[in-house]
Amino acid sequence: MNLNLEIELASIRMDNPLMLASGILGICPSLIRRVAAAGAGAIVTKSIGLKAREGFPNPTVHIIKDYGLINAMGLPNPGVDEVLEEFKDQKFSVPVIYSIYGSSPEEYSNVAKKLLKLNPVAFELNLSCPHVREVGQMVGQDPEMVYKVVNLVKSSVNVPVFAKLSPNVTDILEIACSAVKAGVDGIVAINTVKAMAIDIDLRKPVLGNVYGGLSGPSIKPIAIKIVYDLFENFKVPIVGVGGVSNWKDAIEYFLAGARAVQIGSGVLWKGLNIFGEILSGLRKYMQGHGFKRVEEIVGAGHK
Ligand code: SIN
Repeated sequence: MNLNLEIELASIRMDNPLMLASGILGICPSLIRRVAAAGAGAIVTKSIGLKAREGFPNPTVHIIKDYGLINAMGLPNPGVDEVLEEFKDQKFSVPVIYSIYGSSPEEYSNVAKKLLKLNPVAFELNLSCPHVREVGQMVGQDPEMVYKVVNLVKSSVNVPVFAKLSPNVTDILEIACSAVKAGVDGIVAINTVKAMAIDIDLRKPVLGNVYGGLSGPSIKPIAIKIVYDLFENFKVPIVGVGGVSNWKDAIEYFLAGARAVQIGSGVLWKGLNIFGEILSGLRKYMQGHGFKRVEEIVGAGHK
């Protein structure tokens, strides 16, 4: 049977529906090439801001075996001007989506406008970092602010704009509604869940920042429910992220309504082979169930 794993996300054509999630591998052209060679259909960069940020003091990552990991990196990045320098004249074989953050609609829009020089295929607005007060949660938990950020970025650029939402809000559908009203081209759900760990011998929080965001297998059921609800309520494409570690996880997201899935901490557990492994499982599933296109599975869990 002829299988077609291609997917269209807003106007972005991807060879397959697997994406590298933002943040997991930094911002570096050679890494992007390695992930593309490993089979990713698209890549999202680590979040880029107007100015360089060092990030939080160590430890910034705490691994909880079999559950996932808590991170509080603090949005370290070299700043948009440095990224422009490093990425100029670079070509990639897969779509590269630039993740951006800011402390105001103007700041998001300024970063996006500068990055247009790199001919990005799309932007992902990080409206959701749970532990950097002035730029993450403060923006993403206020529906009015979300509207303003999406609206201003949309009017400043001519490529699709995705909004990555936080689960750390009372009503994520209200936040999604603001983004949709402002014209967002797609929703990415979800960023990490606020979390912390305490070292019982040292009797103090493990992370340098005290708390951070949980990702990995333990947040997948939360994310699946959110993707399911988003699919029931909105027509814009949804990208699922949170705990994708194998092909079954990816298919669960498609059935819930995601058109694509992002892989983040799964890369830490399994390395870049995870892309090939999931694609091969996806093909077998489609063959076994008589599906020819991934799109046939998207939302098929809504009965
Ligand atoms: C970080 O850099 O601290 C994580 C970014 C995020 O969760 O959005």
